[in-house]
Amino acid sequence: MSDVKTILITGANAGLGKECARQLALLPDTAKIILGCRNAERAEAAKESLEQSTGREIFDILILDLSDLDSVRRAAVDAPVVDAVVLNAGGSGGSDGHVLTEAGVTWQFAVNVLGHAALTEALLEADKVRSVVIYAGSEAARGVPEFKMAQPSLPTSSVAEFVSICDGSFFGEPFDEIAAYAHAKYVAAMWMSSLARKYPAVRLVTMSPGGTAGTNAVAAMPPLKRFLMSYVGMPLMRVFGHAHNVEAGAKRYLDALMDERYATGVFYGNEKKTVGPLADQAVFFPDLRNPAFQDNARAAIHRFID
Ligand SMILES: NC(=O)c1ccc[n+]([C@@H]2O[C@H](COP(=O)([O-])OP(=O)(O)OC[C@H]3O[C@@H](n4cnc5c(N)ncnc54)[C@H](OP(=O)(O)O)[C@@H]3O)[C@@H](O)[C@H]2O)c1
Repeated sequence: MSDVKTILITGANAGLGKECARQLALLPDTAKIILGCRNAERAEAAKESLEQSTGREIFDILILDLSDLDSVRRAAVDAPVVDAVVLNAGGSGGSDGHVLTEAGVTWQFAVNVLGHAALTEALLEADKVRSVVIYAGSEAARGVPEFKMAQPSLPTSSVAEFVSICDGSFFGEPFDEIAAYAHAKYVAAMWMSSLARKYPAVRLVTMSPGGTAGTNAVAAMPPLKRFLMSYVGMPLMRVFGHAHNVEAGAKRYLDALMDERYATGVFYGNEKKTVGPLADQAVFFPDLRNPAFQDNARAAIHRFID
């Protein structure tokens, strides 16, 4: 019998988040799933479709827009006590990824990291998470040589340098949305590790779903890039073993939720390529296990949420 019976999932109306909700609902121990979504209509549609596909009426909706700290704070107050949280919403943000939010970070950073940090820390402070938090990481955060994605390179890993990643100034002009996405996911993994030391009673695990075809991830891209990724890039990635389907991607979240061998403070992702067996990503990028760097990443985030 699992301890994880009530789960809040962000970005639960589409892609990996919705599939995670579906798989969790099929487990008889699951008593309640809270769909954290920014849009009420899309949330209702997802709820209906999940009820139909699982035959269970255990879904509630929590409206939260991760790019808006007021919305996130309201959601943290409205959220019930849960056993687990899956911090899944995110993506590269497409052509608007560089735009600054009211909090002063890029939209891309807000959705992938800042909103999740504000939500999680508010829930933990209010004792509203009993057992486990999973963050949707990405191998981009440690570099993917097969796709010519460089490993994030931070000359000092100081708080100021992490702040410049949050507000986008680290990247100069023009904003490189892929490099910025990689760095945002890196900062998030570091923040999770720092938070894991602060809250030893809760397991905080960063888990990459792996290269996953069939989600809406390409929808935010400019039209030509979107067309090429949908009809050429992703199909080829699957043929050459660089991507799996959404069922396999979301199953990674469930594994991390249920299996306590996935240790707190660790970032798990692929050992090779972007699918296949998992490994601690610090093997490829030792900075990931540097506690001073982790704390600097968290301190930088706090410059924007305190
Ligand atoms: N797919 C991959 O290959 C892959 C690989 C590694 C990591 N990941 C990570 O996995 C996670 C899920 O990706 P996916 O491929 O499933 O993407 P997706 O299909 O595009 O789903 C993203 C979800 O995030 C939600 N979202 C976007 N902005 C939001 C905001 N401001 N506030 C609240 N929710 C917001 C979206 O809601 P709307 O429908 O309202 O836009 C949607 O529900 C992301 O964090 C991504 O970085 C994906």
